[in-house]
Amino acid sequence: MAITRWLVTGGAGYIGAHVVRALLDSGRDAIVLDDLSTGLTSRLPVGVELLKGSVTDASFVVEAVEQTGCAGIIHLAAKKSPTESMVDPLLYADENVGGMMTLLRAVKGTASARIVFSSSCSVYGNPDLSQVTEDAPTAPASPYGDSKLYGERLLNSAATAYGFGAISLRYFNVVGAGAPALRDNGAYNLVPLAFQALRRGADPRVFGSDYPTPDGTCIRDYVDVEDLADAHVRAAQALEANPIVSVFNVGRGVGSSVLDVLDAIQEVTGLAFTPQILERRAGDPARIVGQVDKIRHELGWSARRTLMDMIGSAWLAELPQV
Ligand SMILES: NC(=O)c1ccc[n+]([C@@H]2O[C@H](COP(=O)([O-])OP(=O)(O)OC[C@H]3O[C@@H](n4cnc5c(N)ncnc54)[C@H](O)[C@@H]3O)[C@@H](O)[C@H]2O)c1
Repeated sequence: MAITRWLVTGGAGYIGAHVVRALLDSGRDAIVLDDLSTGLTSRLPVGVELLKGSVTDASFVVEAVEQTGCAGIIHLAAKKSPTESMVDPLLYADENVGGMMTLLRAVKGTASARIVFSSSCSVYGNPDLSQVTEDAPTAPASPYGDSKLYGERLLNSAATAYGFGAISLRYFNVVGAGAPALRDNGAYNLVPLAFQALRRGADPRVFGSDYPTPDGTCIRDYVDVEDLADAHVRAAQALEANPIVSVFNVGRGVGSSVLDVLDAIQEVTGLAFTPQILERRAGDPARIVGQVDKIRHELGWSARRTLMDMIGSAWLAELPQV
């Protein structure tokens, strides 16, 4: 039987590199399309080809789809900071919405017309619900969230109109590292930011302690990056079987506050610190936790790793490698 090949945009990024490995582990082949704006070639497994360029470059993407003859595309390439998107919303429209449009035009009418899309829980905005299901109201609180919601809508309407398969995965907060080389170097998320502070000998920072939550800090649903990568393989498998059009939350369905995470970091690292409390950041919702029954029932996926597991693997990846 021929090996199924998937094109992974953003495959040199933190999550994308884990997805590439999960695809290879599932017996599939992967080719990466990445402009290396935040991605690293050192994250790519030996033998995985990199097509270097932007997902917003129409002729480059058409050529990539034609050349690779891929079964489908896992589309992760994007800008990902809600805070930055408040300052430069047009950058987020160009990259995130523009990238989706370029891809849709390139795959329309081809045998590669299957797309798994990196969406985000930020499409829900600041929900007044203890857990959000996929049909909860969407009301993004940042241009980043808008760009993900619009990406989903474009994808769903194009897939329905042109008859191809599309799955949007709404990731919750991603933590962990399958190997040191794959770790999250981004300066946006709580755990890498806390580790950066600890490396400098500083106390990790908390953005806002006056939210309407039990300890006053934001509550999030943390999911391990290797579990998340497996969800992409489940989605690819589902699209290989049927051209479904669907949206799934990908989280654990468990809420942890910023202070819970910092406590777990103290326990894992053995380093004691007093969190530095700062003002709220623009665009951060108070609480967002996913309801994850749909992905369990329909794709047979559920998270296996705990908060301690993911902080443990992230910290191991942070330590000097011998
Ligand atoms: N990290 C999270 O907690 C989280 C949560 C929800 C959604 N997401 C989404 O997951 C995806 C991957 O995030 P990540 O954390 O791995 O970020 P990352 O910055 O590590 O990875 C993004 C990758 O895309 C590449 N890229 C960016 N713009 C590109 C372009 N125009 N053309 C080609 N390549 C481009 C970058 O070089 C990088 O390799 C993003 O779409 C992000 O919005 C991430």
